[in-house]
Parts: sequence; C-alpha cells; structure tokens
Amino acid sequence: MAEDLLIIQGTKEEQYRQLIPQIKGLLEGESDLIANLANVSAALSEQFGWLWTGFYLVKPSSAKAFTDKGEELVLGPFQGPVACTRIRKGKGVCGTAWAEAKTIIVPDVELFPGHIACSSLSRSEIVVPVIRNNKVVAVLDVDSEAPDQFDTTDQTFLEEIISLLEF
Ligand code: SME
Repeated sequence: MAEDLLIIQGTKEEQYRQLIPQIKGLLEGESDLIANLANVSAALSEQFGWLWTGFYLVKPSSAKAFTDKGEELVLGPFQGPVACTRIRKGKGVCGTAWAEAKTIIVPDVELFPGHIACSSLSRSEIVVPVIRNNKVVAVLDVDSEAPDQFDTTDQTFLEEIISLLEF
C-alpha cells in the first residue's frame, strides 16, 4: 500500500487520472470498509482541497417512526469541519441523491430547496450515491467554498472511484 499521496498538478481530468491509481494502491489488500472510506476521503481532500469530503452510510434509523423503511444516512468517515450526523431520505442534497439513486450536482447551494447547511461556507456541492445490488448503501458528499465547482468530469471520476469500493 502506498503511504504517501503524490499531489498532482494539471487539469481536473489529469488530476483525477493520476489520483485513481494511487487510490487503487490505498485500497489494495485492505478489506475494512471504514479504513477504505477514510483513506478515499483523505486522498480526495488532499488532492483537491475541498471544504468537506466524506461519506454518509445508509443505516437503521434511530427514529423509525418518521423514516422510510427505518433507514437514514449516518455520518461516516470524512475530512473537513464537523457535520450533521443524520439525514433523512429525501432531505437535503444527500437525502435526495439517496432517494433518487443518482448523482446530484448543485452549482449554488442557496438555490437547492431544502439544502442542509452543515457549514455556512459551502457554496457548491456534488453528491454521488454508492449503489450495490440495486440499493443505495452510502453517498459520497463533496462541498466547496467556491460556487459552481463541480461538473460532469467530477461526476464521471467520482463515480469511478466509488466503484472501486467494496461494500
Ligand atoms: N449539504 C448536505 C448535508 C451534508 S454536509 O454538507 C456535510 C445536504 O444538503 O445534504
């Protein structure tokens, strides 16, 4: 396993292209999910310097009465400021990506109805669902302090990175 991350200069696409083999190296031979989610969060955060990079995991709800099928998103490994710990299905960007089982790019968080502002510094966001056996099992959430930071290049490469994870 590689222990140091080589930080890449260049276009966003070049950065992702050279980061992915390094992420593969970090994941190689390690089966612990939390360890792998932690290192993927750290590698993305180190390379891109986003405000917040991390995972929410679909878990049994602590308040079954008001959640769908007794599940909710619970905060997992991340890099960045402290964040809200639980998100209900359909709520915020994360809960919407979960409910719709698709990646959501938000160029301006203030224009996304129901956006959950864990940090007032966040201006744009991308949330990528992790789907296994036709079920969303987690989401990768990335927040930036700059508006309009994420596009289909991020979507393509983040979805590829997510596909490397064994849940
Ligand atoms: N903004 C997210 C909540 C999670 S934090 O950004 C880390 C949302 O609207 O779902």
